[in-house]
Amino acid sequence: MAGNRAVAYKGPGKVEVIDTDYPTFALKDGPGVNPANVGRKVPHGVVLRTVTTNICGSDQHMVRGRTTAPVDLVLGHEITGEVVECGPDVEFIKVGDIVSVPFNISCGRCRNCKERKTGICLNVNPDRPGSAYGYVDMGGWVGGQAEYVLVPYADWNLLKFPDRDQALEKIMDLTMLSDILPTGFHGAVTAGAGVGSTVYVAGAGPVGLAAAASAQLLGAAVVIVGDMNEERLRQAASFGCETVDVSKGDPGEQIEQILGVPEIDCGVDAVGFEARGHGKGSAQEAPATVLNSLMDITAAGGALGIPGLYVTGDPGAVDEAAQKGSLSISLGTGWAKSLSFTTGQCPVMKYNRQLMMAILHDRIQIAKAVNAKAISLDEAPQGYAEFDAGAATKYVLDPNGYVKA
Ligand SMILES: NC(=O)c1ccc[n+]([C@@H]2O[C@H](COP(=O)([O-])OP(=O)(O)OC[C@H]3O[C@@H](n4cnc5c(N)ncnc54)[C@H](O)[C@@H]3O)[C@@H](O)[C@H]2O)c1
Ligand SMILES: [Zn+2]
Ligand SMILES: [Zn+2]
Repeated sequence: MAGNRAVAYKGPGKVEVIDTDYPTFALKDGPGVNPANVGRKVPHGVVLRTVTTNICGSDQHMVRGRTTAPVDLVLGHEITGEVVECGPDVEFIKVGDIVSVPFNISCGRCRNCKERKTGICLNVNPDRPGSAYGYVDMGGWVGGQAEYVLVPYADWNLLKFPDRDQALEKIMDLTMLSDILPTGFHGAVTAGAGVGSTVYVAGAGPVGLAAAASAQLLGAAVVIVGDMNEERLRQAASFGCETVDVSKGDPGEQIEQILGVPEIDCGVDAVGFEARGHGKGSAQEAPATVLNSLMDITAAGGALGIPGLYVTGDPGAVDEAAQKGSLSISLGTGWAKSLSFTTGQCPVMKYNRQLMMAILHDRIQIAKAVNAKAISLDEAPQGYAEFDAGAATKYVLDPNGYVKA
């Protein structure tokens, strides 16, 4: 049988490409596999030969040692692939299909899946609702930064691209459908972005840039992106966003210079728990900064879309409370202004088909917006290091040479 190669977490600051097993239609024991999931049969699954698999800011939280991820965990939840084997219970997906995999693993059978809340499926992760490939506390499904990966409940989870040649031609855009484009879009939608709205996106990483491009697609009048990374702010400006450098101070004043008022309609947090402070504090971590700042600058009655990740356990947090995920949030401000909040994993399946159509018909240039760059599987450690250093680049691994071809 064929072998497999994959990117594994090897301790804080370290990833390596390792030799590992070719997937079978069962969940085997391994690093991070929940005991209740060991031996779980997956006749409804398919094996994919990976076409592309992206490095994400969510992976970086683990690689920086900011979670309880175990060493040797195979990483990778942003997967696009070609079906090479179908389990006996797969009815509609066929060998040869080119498919996008939502990073959320979901069963399609539980109450939440039936309500399209696939980010909190009840049946795939014995630890808690919600699951993903190659992620800490997510049940132990093996990651897809690999040559081959197993996808359960394939008929339900997979989005099949209509045409193979067209898919491979637009692969650098379509690869963003597994996570960051739907996630950014969800951030913009849940912040209330629509025709004529003013939107502030905190964070100019790939998710922030995807949220900004999504707000434009939704018809926003002005999209403002904030970060302290100049290169990333230039990337945001390259596709028509206004920018705010938060190392110069709270975003309100700079927003006033752009809009005439220190207020926006819609706020998106594309930063999460590793947020740094504003102004002079921008070198230090201050995990509640973005949430409190968004409550300050979002107009009364507005909404906050919060795709930025917050955790329940952070060994590297700045204080004891934050180590347990407790942050000093000024909820009174949010309450007084009747703000709404949407947190959690993006339910990718709610948006990926529509966004695929937007890509196929050139309504959105997401690869360009996030500056997508393809690299080989062997170059993954370098990709992780550059991304961690703040490169304005979304790294796309090409483990089987599809992109190169
Ligand atoms: N909800 C979901 O389903 C989902 C999916 C994907 C990613 N995420 C999360 O979204 C977040 C962003 O992902 P990414 O890949 O873009 O990560 P990233 O780390 O590349 O980007 C985060 C950016 O935030 C900037 N930043 C730090 N403090 C800031 C502040 N106070 N104001 C403005 N910017 C600040 C950083 O300089 C960095 O450029 C991460 O927390 C990630 O885990 C969530
Ligand atoms: Zn991701
Ligand atoms: Zn479910």
